[in-house]
Amino acid sequence: MASLDTPAREQWGSRLGFILAAAGSAIGLGNIWRFPYLAGEGGGGAFVLVYLLCIIGIGMPYLFAELSLGRNSQRNPVGAIEAIVGKRSLWLIVGGFCVLAGFVILSYYSVIAGWAVGYAVKDVIAPGLGFGDFVASPPLVITLLAVFLGITLLVVLGGVEQGIERWSKILLPILLVLILLVIFRAVTLEGAGEGIAFYLWPDFSGLTTEIIIAALGQAFFTLSLGMGAMVTYGSYLSKKENIATSGIYVVVFNTVIALMAGFMIFPSIFAMDMDPATGPALVFIVLPEVFSQMPLGGVVSVTFFVLLSIAALTSSISLLEVVVSYFVDERSWSRKKSVAIIGGLVFVMAIPSALSQGAVASLSEGGIFGDTDFLSFMDYYVGSVGLALGAFFLSIFIGWVWGADEAAQEIMQGSNLSARVLSVWMFVIRYIIPLVVLIIIAGYVTGTL
Ligand code: TRP
Repeated sequence: MASLDTPAREQWGSRLGFILAAAGSAIGLGNIWRFPYLAGEGGGGAFVLVYLLCIIGIGMPYLFAELSLGRNSQRNPVGAIEAIVGKRSLWLIVGGFCVLAGFVILSYYSVIAGWAVGYAVKDVIAPGLGFGDFVASPPLVITLLAVFLGITLLVVLGGVEQGIERWSKILLPILLVLILLVIFRAVTLEGAGEGIAFYLWPDFSGLTTEIIIAALGQAFFTLSLGMGAMVTYGSYLSKKENIATSGIYVVVFNTVIALMAGFMIFPSIFAMDMDPATGPALVFIVLPEVFSQMPLGGVVSVTFFVLLSIAALTSSISLLEVVVSYFVDERSWSRKKSVAIIGGLVFVMAIPSALSQGAVASLSEGGIFGDTDFLSFMDYYVGSVGLALGAFFLSIFIGWVWGADEAAQEIMQGSNLSARVLSVWMFVIRYIIPLVVLIIIAGYVTGTL
């Protein structure tokens, strides 16, 4: 086992290990909870098509940029920026923001993931309880949060190769098999065809600017971009690895899982005559209802929430790793100490989120946050606006301060992309991505999103 306390920096044990860990970070609640409800609200096929374009044209090139910054410096986001501009630069604030964002996102992400864990065992711990009462029960949500966060801490404590990589290699294949089982049940339901048609047939008449901006934002969120998670994972890559090829695998894997999530959900929803456009409640309120009406629904429901928990776990470990790697690299803390202290703080930070769904009135909708609640507030300002700002500053940093040509050279090491492809990539990193991210930010500022 790799030593936990020596300063020698770890690396991924194998190429496949890296791809599965990075794909694990990407594949999460974003694919199975957020993507389907956005597609449901965005009119199905038309949203899916726009989303795919955003992934290929924007998400993937920007992913290469984060990975190359990480591999170049072999450091966490703060260290990576410092390696380029030195200790006294204002750019370090961007790195610091990345670490802070990882901390905050992990706090509320663990709360939602805790609900998924709870729903997997709901028939045992809280049979018959509706979603509203479930999430408003302090003992339930806090215990589930502790369970989920505890597992995340244990994985990250094991280190890069023996913890994150090992568990990603075990969990992702399981996830895939469970998804296939649920898809099989969903598409064999009577009336499933209508859902598949809604999902795949693009109807552009309903396509609005709002939906396009949402698809762009989702492309960043789902690939874990905008806060240096991929800088951190890239920092454990050796110079021999091919960033472009590995990155493409991550994108493809992530996209396939998101598309498969649609095949689990839409056929079921249409077969049971439910509404696909119910927003964030889709997975926790509509699906359990759908499952309760279908043959074998009990088994399908447990399978679905187990797979949702697994997907969330391989993402939460990447959020924690960003923070841990900062303290290990920059503050010379041991991994054990970092995991223990940060884990404790994340738990404390997560409590207001956990209690914000009805348990404590002032934290919930209608309390001090007006028409939103503490969890949604954090998700909006850190998980959405914050990530867009992070992606903006990081793309400017990589494209202009470090230099797109330097980044391109880093990508070239270990790969053999043609000069033409690289020059297109440089153009995209310098101009297209900052511009597109500004559009997303404008969408938030003007209140379209
Ligand atoms: N991509 C994950 C998902 O789809 C969420 C996630 C994990 C994330 N790490 C991240 C999002 C870093 C943004 C940044 O659920």
